Amino acid sequence: MAFSPDLSKSTKLERYNSYLRRVNNTKLLAASSKLLFRVTLLVALLLVFFFTLNYPIGGGGGQNASIHTTSRFFSSGFYGTGAAWEKQVRQSSTPRRPNGFSILVTGAAGFVGTHCSLALRKRGDGVLGLDNFNSYYDPSLKRARQNLLSRNQIFTVEADLNDTPMLNKLFDIVPFTHVLHLAAQAGVRYAMKNPQSYVQSNIAGFINLLEVAKAAVPQPAIVWASSSSVYGLNKDNPFSEMDRTDQPASLYAATKKAGEEIAHTYNHIYGLSLTGLRFFTVYGPWGRPDMAYFFFTKDILQGKPINIYKTHDGTEVARDFTYVDDIVKGCVGALDTAEKSTGSGGKKRGPAQLRVYNLGNTSPVGVGRLVSILEGLLNVKAKKHVITMPRNGDVPFTHANVTLAHKDFAYKPTTDLATGLRKFVKWYVSYYGVQPKVKKDTPSEAE
Ligand SMILES: NC(=O)c1ccc[n+]([C@@H]2O[C@H](COP(=O)([O-])OP(=O)(O)OC[C@H]3O[C@@H](n4cnc5c(N)ncnc54)[C@H](O)[C@@H]3O)[C@@H](O)[C@H]2O)c1
Ligand SMILES: *[C@@H]1O[C@H](CO)[C@@H](O)[C@H](O)[C@H]1NC(C)=O
Repeated sequence: MAFSPDLSKSTKLERYNSYLRRVNNTKLLAASSKLLFRVTLLVALLLVFFFTLNYPIGGGGGQNASIHTTSRFFSSGFYGTGAAWEKQVRQSSTPRRPNGFSILVTGAAGFVGTHCSLALRKRGDGVLGLDNFNSYYDPSLKRARQNLLSRNQIFTVEADLNDTPMLNKLFDIVPFTHVLHLAAQAGVRYAMKNPQSYVQSNIAGFINLLEVAKAAVPQPAIVWASSSSVYGLNKDNPFSEMDRTDQPASLYAATKKAGEEIAHTYNHIYGLSLTGLRFFTVYGPWGRPDMAYFFFTKDILQGKPINIYKTHDGTEVARDFTYVDDIVKGCVGALDTAEKSTGSGGKKRGPAQLRVYNLGNTSPVGVGRLVSILEGLLNVKAKKHVITMPRNGDVPFTHANVTLAHKDFAYKPTTDLATGLRKFVKWYVSYYGVQPKVKKDTPSEAE
């Protein structure tokens, strides 16, 4: 228009029209904003009603959209945080022994988290669980573990590590003395499918937890799960804490290694007491369906063939399988020897404890032997396919040197693989309602 010379009339008309439009717009705006206000009010009321009804199930939002079933729309800010909910949080966190701890267990509905929570509760510590119940593996198993915790008076808050308002709220309600941080995206192979989930939980989630913990008054002492996978392509045998850990073979391992460095930073800047535990292939009842001993059991029972890896130079793949009860003792030992954090109000007041320990079994077992133990326990012959290990993040062998954990908190694994697997299989057949095969006259000890 600015370039048309002879349009003064139409310009006036245009101005008048635009004036009318503005008036109409203003009216429309007023009307629509009234409508908007009413609709908003209605929606808010509906939401409040809905949340009150559904209380106290649910909570924080899922972070890894691809594997989560819960919607992150339901942020914890206004959901599941009423007076009754607060009471549950308080009750669960209150110790029942003199000088008992008040512990926040993240990943409480997970395999190791459930076992640790039960053990701590049993000796009289206050335990509050936190888990986002993501669907990396069958969430109904996590719900079953949650029920088990709940039967033992342990309340599990459903929230993500990245849910800052929720974490702040929990620390506002409870002066946690300790955090046992076990929530993580686990699994080596899945990292090639969904790398972002590892970043979300193991890096962003861990940092978020540390941010909240450093600002908390009092600051808790933190014990958290690193992994034997940090040793990666390390050639020393057994793996000792002072060995190199700068050659991770998977993104999972890299995020755990990053966690150890991040722990160093928060210890250095804020005086947080931090202990990292490098678990070696943990197995047992209530275990993880994505792990070999678990899906071998499933597949053998269903008559499906199983893949047994051999390394590129033809040797057998071996793991330092560690029974979950031994890991629990290690976690408890680490908590008991954890010194207090020294910071306050986000400021460091002095040097604080920073530790890393191996928690393993110290006796690697080849996958072939794992399978023959399972065959004996299940009384079924496995259909074995021996294949060369694909380059998917797995390492050829693991073997823990646990001298340090033994020296500092008398860590001593006591369960061998045959004994531990017997307990696992017993749980498995009862949990999944498997009919045990009729035993032959001479019980086969395929071991
Ligand atoms: N089981 C092993 O062999 C083994 C070995 C080495 C290290 N670890 C480490 O030990 C810890 C426990 O392992 P596990 O075997 O019990 O695994 P798990 O998957 O059974 O337990 C982890 C739990 O954390 C929850 N979680 C994951 N991301 C979360 C998030 N962002 N917010 C809230 N909750 C979240 C999951 O829902 C799950 O219930 C993990 O840190 C794992 O990396 C395990
Ligand atoms: C095991 O670790 C300790 C340190 O914790 C070390 O002194 C010892 O040499 C290691 N043993 C082996 C066999 O590597």
